[in-house]
Amino acid sequence: METVAALFSRLGSVSRARRFCGAKPRLSDADLALLARVDETHHVLVAYVGDDPAPAGIARLVRDGLTGEIAFEVADGLQGRGIGSVLAHELATDARAAGITRLVATVCGDNRPAVSLLRRLTRSLEVRWRGGEREFVLSLAEP
Ligand SMILES: CC(C)(COP(=O)(O)OP(=O)(O)OC[C@H]1O[C@@H](n2cnc3c(N)ncnc32)[C@H](O)[C@@H]1OP(=O)(O)O)[C@@H](O)C(=O)NCCC(=O)NCCS
Repeated sequence: METVAALFSRLGSVSRARRFCGAKPRLSDADLALLARVDETHHVLVAYVGDDPAPAGIARLVRDGLTGEIAFEVADGLQGRGIGSVLAHELATDARAAGITRLVATVCGDNRPAVSLLRRLTRSLEVRWRGGEREFVLSLAEP
């Protein structure tokens, strides 16, 4: 939970709104417990840079059968350096190894970095609109 809270403290209001699809000034205890959950259906990757003990980025996957719902966040000061792409690639590799065939990600508003990152994960990608949010469905059948 400390890791989740530490990374959240490194996100500005725009990143928080993009990650949580709305204003998120703080994480509740319930949010923290959910985001830090790791078990047979909840998988989390944490990125660090050099000797810095503070987390640089987190990627999460929640499994539902053959589908994995994914989400990412990278500390504001470290965005645009490829950390999100590495996390996404590693998460997709883990998902494939676990037999997951489809990833789903919700992208709210105009979030070009997230869209760009998702588009590079697979050649087979479908986009659906759900209200003001886009849902990206990525097939893991081929790399
Ligand atoms: C989305 C996010 C995880 C990407 O992480 P990152 O470490 O910055 O990503 P990368 O450096 O690997 O770059 C990924 C792509 O975004 C582009 N990008 C990165 N920062 C950008 C910026 N500030 N403006 C425009 N494009 C940007 C990169 O050029 C790259 O695109 P390319 O593949 O076409 O070159 C990060 O921006 C973030 O945490 N955003 C806030 C939370 C969020 O939106 N989460 C996604 C919900 S699924």
